[in-house]
Amino acid sequence: MLFLDSSDPDEITDIFSWGVVSGVTTNPLIIAREAGDVDLEERIKKVIAVSSGHVSVELTTETESEMLEEALGYYAWDKKRICVKVPFSEVGLKVLHQLVGRGIATNVTCMMSFNQMYLASLAGATYVSLFSGRVRDMGYDPREIIGETRAILDREDLPSKIIVGSIRHMMDVNEALIEGAHIVTVPPPILRKMLWNPRTESTISEFNDAWKNRKK
Ligand code: E4P
Repeated sequence: MLFLDSSDPDEITDIFSWGVVSGVTTNPLIIAREAGDVDLEERIKKVIAVSSGHVSVELTTETESEMLEEALGYYAWDKKRICVKVPFSEVGLKVLHQLVGRGIATNVTCMMSFNQMYLASLAGATYVSLFSGRVRDMGYDPREIIGETRAILDREDLPSKIIVGSIRHMMDVNEALIEGAHIVTVPPPILRKMLWNPRTESTISEFNDAWKNRKK
């Protein structure tokens, strides 16, 4: 499955009309880059209105009580559609445990290793997010982490779904799916590149030209 890694309502509207995307992920960096000092609630409600499935919204506070309060605030915006994105840490796990207990959808984020992915899955996260591009930046191969995480989720019958994010190239999407990611969250420019193949375009032109120039 594919999610869209964006907070841009126009892009989200357009790409959801293709019928290939099942959810949206945002993070503070994406929102700051795309919209600057925007009203977060307004922005996320616009995203919800033009999409379907879970919309992940990330916590930006750092203590357990603040994070819990922030999470409950986001959840109240739309109890079915909001997925609280919890940055991975010891405190994050504690917050996650409480959100899971309340039946709130969660996406544990910023994870770079098998160990972190396993802990977040054991704690009951709805989604566990591995940052493929950032793992590669450190000189490691994300494919092994994806494959190993998928194997343990299946072996222990853990219900978390693997999201692979931090996608920089089309090949990252293909590799993540082949290794066993349930979902890849893709930035709009990379999703648009997935449409394109020169041989497809030339074949369609060849067919259409033949039709236009057929003997009458
Ligand atoms: C995933 O949920 C994140 O929003 C995203 O993919 C982060 O990736 P990046 O900041 O490395 O691009």
